[in-house]
Amino acid sequence: MTDHQAPFDALALRSALGAFVTGVTVITTQDASGKPHGLTANSFNTVSLDPPLILWSQSKKAGSYDTFQQAAEFAISILAEDQIEVSARFASKQPDKFDGVTVERAFCGLPVIAGASAWLYCRTVSRVDGGDHTIYIGEILKIARSGRRPLVFGGGQYLLAQPHHAAMHSATVPTGARQRHAVQLCTPHMQRIAEELDITICAAVWGNAGPTLISWETGPTSVLPSFPLGLVLPVTSSATGKAFAASLPPATTGPFVERELAAALVPQAEAAQQWQATLAQVRASGVALHPPTRFWNDEMLITVACVAVRGSDADAIVAMSAVVDSALPPPVLERACDKLKEAAAKIERLLGFQAELTPAGFLS
Ligand SMILES: Cc1cc2nc3c(=O)[nH]c(=O)nc-3n(C[C@H](O)[C@H](O)[C@H](O)COP(=O)(O)O)c2cc1C
Repeated sequence: MTDHQAPFDALALRSALGAFVTGVTVITTQDASGKPHGLTANSFNTVSLDPPLILWSQSKKAGSYDTFQQAAEFAISILAEDQIEVSARFASKQPDKFDGVTVERAFCGLPVIAGASAWLYCRTVSRVDGGDHTIYIGEILKIARSGRRPLVFGGGQYLLAQPHHAAMHSATVPTGARQRHAVQLCTPHMQRIAEELDITICAAVWGNAGPTLISWETGPTSVLPSFPLGLVLPVTSSATGKAFAASLPPATTGPFVERELAAALVPQAEAAQQWQATLAQVRASGVALHPPTRFWNDEMLITVACVAVRGSDADAIVAMSAVVDSALPPPVLERACDKLKEAAAKIERLLGFQAELTPAGFLS
C-alpha cells in the first residue's frame, strides 16, 4: 500500500465525517459451524432500489472479518432508539456478544436483533476493496419493519430522531400543541446562539404563576451556576417579564403587574408611568433589557436581554433570553440582541405571526 500524507489529521477527518449523521445497524451472519457473528456498523447505506441493493463496509481488522468474507448471506438489524446497549455490545470484542441479547431466527434463519426498527436479509453480491475496509454489496431478499423509531449516530455520539419542527407547517400543528411546537422551534436557535457567542440562552413561557423558565442552552464555556427549571420570574423587574408584558394582553399580565407595582418604593402613579414607558421602549426596540443583577444563587453578575416570540394571534408564546456575564464587553450583549431578534423573526414567520394583526394599543 502506498504511504501518503493526507493534508489533515485523523481526528479532523473523523470530526468532518461525523457531521454526516447515520442510523446504527447490527450486521449478523453465521459461520460454517452455525456459530453466529455480528458487529455494529453505521457504514450501511442504500445503493439501488431496482434491483434492491445496499452496502456496508467492514474494517479488515474486525474479528469477524474472515467470517463475513466467506458469508454468502447476512442480515441487517436497524437498531431502535432504545438499543444503545445492543449497539455497544456488538461494537465490543466480547467473546459471546449474543449472550443475553434477544434474537429472532424466524425472519430469515440468521439471528436478527429483536425489537429493532427494521430488518433486511441480504445475499452478498459483491466484495470491493476499500482501503482499510472491504465494502460489501448485498441484494435485499426480504424486509420487515417494526415502526419503532431508529437510533441515530453522529459526531461520535448517539442521537434521537425527532421531526424537525421548522419543516412542519404551523397550520398542521394541533391547537393544543402550539406552545410546545414554538418551544421546539426555539431550541436549535438557542443552541446555535449559545455556541456562537459562548453565552447562556434560556427560554421561558407564561405559566400560571407568570414568566417561568423552562430550558437552558449553554455555550462551550458559558456554564452558569445551575439555574433550575421552573423558576418563576417577576414581571416588572426581569427582562423576561418585560418581554412578555410587552406582547401579551394586559388582562393576562395586569394582575401580576399591579401586585408588583403596589410593592414599589416610588409613588404608585410614578411607578405606573415608568412601567408604561418601559413597555413602550420594549415594543419599539423589540428587546427587553435588564441591567446587571445578581441572580439565583448570587454567583455571577448577569445582564439579560429578552426577545418575545409571538404566534399567529400576536401573543407572546415563548421568550428567549441571553444571559450574559456582566464582565463581558458590551458588544457581546449587542450581538446577542441582534441574533435573538433575527431568530425570533424566523420562528414567528413559521408560527404564522403577522405584524399587522398586532393590536393597535400594543404598538404605542
Ligand atoms: C456506532 C458504531 C458504528 C460502527 N460502524 C462500523 C462499520 O461500519 N464497520 C466496521 O467495520 N466497524 C464499525 N464499528 C466498529 C465495530 O462495531 C467494532 O470494531 C466491533 O468490535 C467489530 O466486531 P468484531 O471485532 O467482533 O468483528 C462501529 C462501531 C460503532 C459504535
